[in-house]
Amino acid sequence: MERLQKVMAHAGIASRRKSEELIKTGRVKVNGEVVRELGIQVSNQDEIKVDNVPIDKEEPVYYLLNKPRSVISTVEDNKGRKTVREFFPQVEQRIYPIGRLDYDTTGAIILTNDGDFAQLLMHPKYEIEKTYVAKVRGLVKKETIKKLEKGLVIEGKKTSPAKARVISQDRKKEVTMVEIKIHEGRNHQVKNMFTAVGHPVLKLKRETYGQLNLAGLQPGESRVLKAFEIDSLKKEALKNS
Ligand code: URA
Repeated sequence: MERLQKVMAHAGIASRRKSEELIKTGRVKVNGEVVRELGIQVSNQDEIKVDNVPIDKEEPVYYLLNKPRSVISTVEDNKGRKTVREFFPQVEQRIYPIGRLDYDTTGAIILTNDGDFAQLLMHPKYEIEKTYVAKVRGLVKKETIKKLEKGLVIEGKKTSPAKARVISQDRKKEVTMVEIKIHEGRNHQVKNMFTAVGHPVLKLKRETYGQLNLAGLQPGESRVLKAFEIDSLKKEALKNS
């Protein structure tokens, strides 16, 4: 017997946390009955349906997408915006993105149907490193880089130590390209960090996610992750636990 949300996550429905939301909102049935409780245990014999569709046990699949601008990091969008899911018309499995990139942020994002993997990588305590390149307004000084690295209080909470460096500056246009490596994944984290030091972000790209980079992927292109890449992401997450 296993907890319902765990079975759902394994079946590739969603992360465990998202599965819990599906349960709480009454979208899950076990043997024909809506279940809203989170603790319930199910076995292989039980018939589980989400939105009246039986779940089946899918093979786990993993993709890296170079997300273009003007694309939302969800599976569906009620405002009709293009979603990251639409870049995988050939994929039958119920894949969804691990974490979010803003609508106007480009770069590396993983999609999978492996709920445990998604949860592992998203958990703040596991701290996968991500590298961003930000084009920001103004000429960024050394002291500012130090502040970004040491941590800033955003919405009442200090950001974890980061690494940052100036890549280039355009003195005429008064813009700076900065590379920043962070481990957290709070909402709009990089933009909020730069806003906090007085340099609003004009463009943002995620260049790396753990060991993964965007080599060979144009915006909108994706590739299957290799087994060693999946393992190395798991290892990187677990080494910080
Ligand atoms: N930080 C942001 O501000 N936006 C993103 O899309 C990712 C990290």
